[in-house]
Amino acid sequence: MRRPIIAGNWKLNKTIVEAVDLANKLKAATLKLDDRTAVVCPPFTALSAVADALRDSDIAVGGQDIFWEDSGAFTGEISGPMLKSAGCTYVIIGHSERRQLFGETNDTVNKKLLAALKNCLFPIVCVGETLEERKTNQTFEVIKSQVNNSLANLTNEQLALTVIAYEPVWAIGTGLTATPAQAEEVHAFIRTLLCKEVAEGMRILYGGSVKPDNVKELMGQKDIDGALVGGASLKAPDFISLINY
Ligand code: 13P
Repeated sequence: MRRPIIAGNWKLNKTIVEAVDLANKLKAATLKLDDRTAVVCPPFTALSAVADALRDSDIAVGGQDIFWEDSGAFTGEISGPMLKSAGCTYVIIGHSERRQLFGETNDTVNKKLLAALKNCLFPIVCVGETLEERKTNQTFEVIKSQVNNSLANLTNEQLALTVIAYEPVWAIGTGLTATPAQAEEVHAFIRTLLCKEVAEGMRILYGGSVKPDNVKELMGQKDIDGALVGGASLKAPDFISLINY
């Protein structure tokens, strides 16, 4: 009943030429997109070119971040209208790398989330605990605070359009995937935190070393509705097999 989403977060990778080359390879592939959604999130500089390359495909394009104001004196920032004009329909918000390296907080994530919704972009809001937090049994407390505060002040209608990505920080880029049971436990917990009226319809993606050889088992879990993929989304054959899991 929840349409799965397989999203590729290209992070700080690929020049425009490289990004278009990957997009063209994805477009040329046979993808099972009748019952699932595929999204690619290239760096800002390649958004427009990738969106052009994917124009006649069913692959959607997303930004990796958004600023909460639409325009003004905010050097270096990118706004919702800019993402829309570059061809985006999705945007990643509050990725753990932004939280850890660039001072992103639940409060800024919330402002960005509201800006994305105002601009008709589907937000993919990331949450996840660090290894230290998991080791000290703080996982559920941390996730609860991130979900409640990042997703504050939304109407049920806005909440229903919001996608959540659970990405345990210790599993990102490390090759250490959460076991399907570990991931499912947190996904099910996240769903209990969401407003009952919309929780069952909301997509919660898993991210953290998702690869072609572990995707099927992860996707087999009741509350896992897709994947947010880093490393394995940078190579066409891997991302194609992830989409077609
Ligand atoms: P990896 O798939 O490289 O672990 O990255 C996950 C991620 O951070 C996706 O946003």
